[in-house]
Amino acid sequence: MNCVANFFTYETTKSVVVKSWTIGVINRAVQLLIISYFIGWVFLHEKAYQIRDTSIESSVVTKVKGFGKYSNQVMDTADYVTPPQGTSVFVIITKLIVTKNQFQGVCPDPGYKCKGDKDCKKPVPTATGAGILTGRCVNYNSTFQTCQIQGWCPAEVDNVNVPVMLEAENFTLFIKNSIRFPLFNFEKGNLLPNLTAEDIKRCRFNPVEQPFCPILRLGDIVKFAGQDFAQLADTGGIIGIKIGWVCDLDHSWDRCVPSYSFNRLDGVSEKNKVSNGYNFRYAKYYKQENGTEFRTLMKAFGIRFDVLVYGNAGKFNIIPTLINTVAAFTSVGVGTVLCDIILLNFLKGADQYKAKKFEEVSEKVLHPDTSGSPIYQNNQTLGRRCEEKQSTDSGTFSIGL
Ligand SMILES: *[C@@H]1O[C@H](CO)[C@@H](O)[C@H](O)[C@H]1NC(C)=O
Repeated sequence: MNCVANFFTYETTKSVVVKSWTIGVINRAVQLLIISYFIGWVFLHEKAYQIRDTSIESSVVTKVKGFGKYSNQVMDTADYVTPPQGTSVFVIITKLIVTKNQFQGVCPDPGYKCKGDKDCKKPVPTATGAGILTGRCVNYNSTFQTCQIQGWCPAEVDNVNVPVMLEAENFTLFIKNSIRFPLFNFEKGNLLPNLTAEDIKRCRFNPVEQPFCPILRLGDIVKFAGQDFAQLADTGGIIGIKIGWVCDLDHSWDRCVPSYSFNRLDGVSEKNKVSNGYNFRYAKYYKQENGTEFRTLMKAFGIRFDVLVYGNAGKFNIIPTLINTVAAFTSVGVGTVLCDIILLNFLKGADQYKAKKFEEVSEKVLHPDTSGSPIYQNNQTLGRRCEEKQSTDSGTFSIGL
């Protein structure tokens, strides 16, 4: 019954001025702490007075230059860069497994080993076959038999060791990046105005000495991403080139500059042994004079570069300034919660403060006529049961030591 009676109560605020040095100093110190947090961190560091545009619009054009040597051929950009359009995602092919002169037909596929025709009746989903099974088991060579397939023949054999085009380390990548912050109609590019035509020929990106040079050596990019070039070129992999534009537009136009960073994006294939690296297949098609088509199949290993642009810009605006100022003033009041806990629990004479702070007023005391029962007796029993005076609604509570 008592607990139910305790629940149906209403609290209203009454101010108590405590003239104590200890709690007074704590109160002012907490207020100072909250104010300096808002001024120092929220306003100056996090720039809460600004409105931010995070929807950066960006375009990226890339161009790779350099010559490599592969299987007695000199390779130029058109040979090793794919796709050729100069997009923000492109692959530098560093290793090729070539299967020449493939025609449509039937042939044994080394991907499916077999002992008899029954091994070749239903397709093995996990096997890396080169075509559709015909259901026959035939001689691959004098030593073993494989299933026969219908498709491009002869079937590719891709577990061979082929050399890597290591010259790719010295290739250069030119990046042209334009960005726009639509909210402020702010436009800029990574070719900064002080970059001369002479610089563009000579400079090589370096995070310390040449942080704004738009020409990057592939070997450097891979090194900055913490990878070994020779190994990456062998297995293939994906490297991210991130261009960050974090701009404070309250400052001058010149101070909004890009920052480049690099990392390996395919962390999964770096660590596991099942499918490591990055490769893909493509083919070149030819026709014989009699009209029969044949092709050269290539399994390419390469380093894929993804140019990722991110950024945001901030500029002074009155609305976030007002909102955050109000939040700062409101938060100063939070200090009273801490002071109340200390005042009501840990300070000398906490019981007296508690008695001053919480007063219980019973309905019957205020309206003695409405009830016939003896009021003071009632109040006394209540007081004895709930010796610890406390408030549960307002957030000010005493721990009740
Ligand atoms: C890259 O260029 C440097 C300097 O020109 C040369 O010493 C090095 O051998 C080249 N690397 C490769 C893999 O060709």
